[in-house]
Amino acid sequence: MLAGKRIVLGVTGGIAAYKAVEVCRRLVDAGAHVVPVMTAGAEHFIGRTTLSALASEPVQTSLWNEASPIPHTRLGQTADLIVVAPATARLLAAYAAGLSTDLLTNTLLATRAPVVVCPAMHTEMWEHPAVQANIATLRSRGVHVVEPESGRLAGGDVGAGRLAAPDVIVGAIEAVLADGPWVGQHVVVSAGGTREPIDAVRVIANRSSGKQGYAIAAEAAARGAKVTLVSTVDLPVPAGVQVRPVETAAQMQAALQELAPTAQLVVMAAAVADFRPVQAAAGKLKKDLGVPQIVLEPTPDILAGLGAVKPQGQILVGFAAETDDLVANAQSKLQRKRLDLIVANDVGAPGVGFQHDTNAVTLLRADGQSSSVELTDKRSIAKVVLDTVNEIRGATHNTAT
Ligand code: PMT
Repeated sequence: MLAGKRIVLGVTGGIAAYKAVEVCRRLVDAGAHVVPVMTAGAEHFIGRTTLSALASEPVQTSLWNEASPIPHTRLGQTADLIVVAPATARLLAAYAAGLSTDLLTNTLLATRAPVVVCPAMHTEMWEHPAVQANIATLRSRGVHVVEPESGRLAGGDVGAGRLAAPDVIVGAIEAVLADGPWVGQHVVVSAGGTREPIDAVRVIANRSSGKQGYAIAAEAAARGAKVTLVSTVDLPVPAGVQVRPVETAAQMQAALQELAPTAQLVVMAAAVADFRPVQAAAGKLKKDLGVPQIVLEPTPDILAGLGAVKPQGQILVGFAAETDDLVANAQSKLQRKRLDLIVANDVGAPGVGFQHDTNAVTLLRADGQSSSVELTDKRSIAKVVLDTVNEIRGATHNTAT
């Protein structure tokens, strides 16, 4: 996606400038040609040498370069994308007003390439009407804005304004540059374990961290899909992904029943409780009253429900968390829940499934084809799942024509 793309990385003067170094490294690792441009302010925070060493070319800082007298137009004209991270209030104001005050603002005004700005500043500045008006102006002109996060800021303040994480910024760049079959598709993913209340403070839960579901959502968004993530956990939200927070199986079912009918792909990576207390106690159960008798009932099978009403052309993917008879159990779930694909993981194996950063899976398709992926990171598993969905679509299309 990024291989061979020429990306101008603009860095302005904020404490978050050090994170631009990591953004630069990730873009270069992904095969992009990164042309760094620093403002005078940025040089107060990071050295030119650091960025020059990691980028594809030495840092440029000035309009007045005798060896190449027209760099401001060349950089903008030849870029596939320009990203500014961090973008200060001054840069946003100059860009919105069309002021060319330095090499970076010149480059931004002299380009027809897509532009991604990643603001970072103190909360008061970020929330100032002037800054918000400039953001609105830039958005209305098609500029992509990677919203700052909330968190700890320079000087110990806490609030909105912290530069988005490097992987979120790179994800946003990938999504803007994406082309191919995923662009504009609606993908719905579920992630995390449901929590079923026993009383006001206790729940029946499971070990799902949500990492596998979030990896699938991030990969689909990076490929240009419009992604909704129905989630029970609070992980950093990948760029371009909308999160629908839920807690119980009933809430997850309601969200999926609402979202799935318009989705081209639904991936159920969440670990849904199979049983829940028939009735949650209103207050906290008192220990002094002895061991409570908690009566359980089955939760709805969300995936089977989606399989029963699957719209024409939608691909429905389930996961199977197994500790024995992996293939036989997963095959039975594939058929019973009317899925197009099931991703089976042996959650008793080292490094596989719940909470790990890694996973190993066997993919079983409704058309009888199967494949396996050895232990690898969850993002790589996500890539294989989406590639397999593409293959299923291709096979279905060929059969239909
Ligand atoms: O979240 P992580 O820590 O990254 O871990 C990833 C994972 C292990 C949770 C993930 O890889 C995984 O296996 N998810 C499915 C877990 C599970 O509930 O499997 P199951 O075999 O019990 O259910 C089969 C399928 O039916 C699943 O897609 C599940 O979401 C769905 N289901 C199950 C029960 C239920 N009441 N409704 C459902 O929709």
